[in-house]
Amino acid sequence: MTETLYERLGGKESIAAVVDRFYDRMLDDERVSHHFEEVDMQQQRAQQTLFLCSLTGGPVEYTGEDMEPAHDHLGITEAEFDVTVDHLEAALEAFDVPERERTEVLEAVAGFRADIVSA
Ligand code: HEM
Repeated sequence: MTETLYERLGGKESIAAVVDRFYDRMLDDERVSHHFEEVDMQQQRAQQTLFLCSLTGGPVEYTGEDMEPAHDHLGITEAEFDVTVDHLEAALEAFDVPERERTEVLEAVAGFRADIVSA
């Protein structure tokens, strides 16, 4: 049987490691870090991990908010979305995720651009 993207990424632990690196980079970047000043980052890391596990075909149920209600009050710009995708790509590269899998993750996430960008 063909492996899911989730399996090719190495499952939940690997995805959690990428998510941790991703948010470390986001919090270090003042172009986007202000959005997270009031956010419980432990919960954010956990929810993002579940979201990406579910999105990539993992045996995980994401129970958080849908992307539009989770972001529409934040006034996120196209440029901020691009910065965020760059940090996700860099985090995937940091864990030597191969190009095919990197592209699939970024394409899946890009599908939510219109739900997340509101400014
Ligand atoms: C790139 C695609 C993105 C994905 C897949 C994504 C995913 C998520 C997820 C799963 C949550 C948790 C929702 C919940 O707990 O119910 C969330 C919340 C949040 N996201 Fe995103 N997000 C993305 C882009 C962005 C961008 C570009 C920003 C800002 C630069 C951002 C800022 C936030 C903030 C501040 C919250 C917390 C909202 C709150 O607690 O009130 N996200 N996001």
